[in-house]
Amino acid sequence: KRKIRIYELAKMLNIENKNLLEILQDLGVEAKSHMSSIDTDIAQIVEETLREDKEAKHGDSKEATVTAKEVIRIDEGSTIERVAKILGKPVNLVVKELITAGFMVPASAIVNDEIAKAIGKAFNVVLSIVPVEAEVSDEEKKEVAIQSERKRQQEPPKKLLPRPPIVTVMGHVDHGKTTLLDYIRKTNVTAKEAGGITQHIGASVVEHNSKKIVFLDTPGHEAFTSMRARGAQVTDIVILIVAADDGVMPQTVEALNHAKAANVPIVVAINKIDKPNAKPDRVKQQLADLGLIPEEWGGDTIMVEISAKTGLNVDELLEMILLVAEMNELVADYEANPEGVVIEAQLDKGKGPVATVIVQQGTLRRGDILLFETTWGRVRAMIDHLGRNIKEVTPSLPAEILGLNEVPQAGERFVRVEDEKEARDAIDKYLEKKRQQEMQAVKRASLEELFEQM
Ligand code: GTP
Ligand code: MG
Repeated sequence: KRKIRIYELAKMLNIENKNLLEILQDLGVEAKSHMSSIDTDIAQIVEETLREDKEAKHGDSKEATVTAKEVIRIDEGSTIERVAKILGKPVNLVVKELITAGFMVPASAIVNDEIAKAIGKAFNVVLSIVPVEAEVSDEEKKEVAIQSERKRQQEPPKKLLPRPPIVTVMGHVDHGKTTLLDYIRKTNVTAKEAGGITQHIGASVVEHNSKKIVFLDTPGHEAFTSMRARGAQVTDIVILIVAADDGVMPQTVEALNHAKAANVPIVVAINKIDKPNAKPDRVKQQLADLGLIPEEWGGDTIMVEISAKTGLNVDELLEMILLVAEMNELVADYEANPEGVVIEAQLDKGKGPVATVIVQQGTLRRGDILLFETTWGRVRAMIDHLGRNIKEVTPSLPAEILGLNEVPQAGERFVRVEDEKEARDAIDKYLEKKRQQEMQAVKRASLEELFEQM
């Protein structure tokens, strides 16, 4: 039987000799020092135990050391921003630590168990999420009330203001997605004023009754789902377009399911109503069979019969979108630290890396230093959907930004950080972590090879 020395195995497993000896003791295996040898099948058991430990518990196993840390109770449903305040840490820093730990979440995200663990680890505390309905004694309630009041007095009140809705058009092939977007863009007042030429930056801004609506330019659900797969949900409202001459088709159902899964409100546009063979009632029946009952039939799905070609009722469709937006109370804190998401990015020969982003909180300004998941940069210039150079971008609005060091991926989130060093450090950490993960994979592979040879 082949043997392996403790120190060799410890090195391979990337743990201390001391810890390895303790693990072996727990397993009832005799090993005196790092020079002792053990059977390789025992080594394999140790390796597996460690791996399972890591995968399954991911932190729980550190219960013993945890007791020494400060336990901080946070209410269920607390946001990262809130927890940062409780910890007395800048929210940027908390978000940055989370990025480094592999959580790309906005400051407005609710802290779940995993995020709580990651924050706890980063700041050497234990965050305990307290269910809101939990029985609390009057004494405790009073204490909590006093504390939150004290904190409320310290922090300036948040100014939540309405923000434009972000809309994605989805539907079956040839049902008129592009035609509808083109018509809306063409008749957009702002575009006319600026000379009528809209620039392709990945999203367009339309004004209807002097209210803005943002349309994502990539119709179809691939973009929608791939963004969501990365944890970035930018769409507030889905327009499900169905051609009245063709009816509900496979991709209509797919799009519907994606929107439902994402819990995004749907407005149905029954298109090509100008065609002689248009059968809008048949479309309504088909949609009703799928659970989308039109309002006129007593349901709650808004359906508008339009012609993307002639523009018939497109105004009404925009009206309905604004109505749904209002009902959903879309708001943002315009004064928060800017954060958002990449919807498109590429390398431009002349301009370097360019990314179209949508701001989700705060106001993004030229000169801001942004930290993305895989890169960072100082915003050198920003261009809006009309090709104008702009100085700031408010929530929901898109802009193409220049000045990044690398091309980020669509769906990547970003936050503004205080200085270049902070951004550089975070990215260095990220790259280092990636390197380590790759190394770990190599190590794992070589260890497996070693076992195989025995
Ligand atoms: P894909 O991008 O291929 O999925 O298609 P799409 O959904 O973007 O459809 P598109 O806008 O390209 O329209 C398909 C065809 O339908 C084009 O020939 C349009 O001119 C035509 N079309 C779109 N809307 C209308 C409409 O309201 N009325 C009529 N008569 N034709 C329309
Ligand atoms: Mg198209």
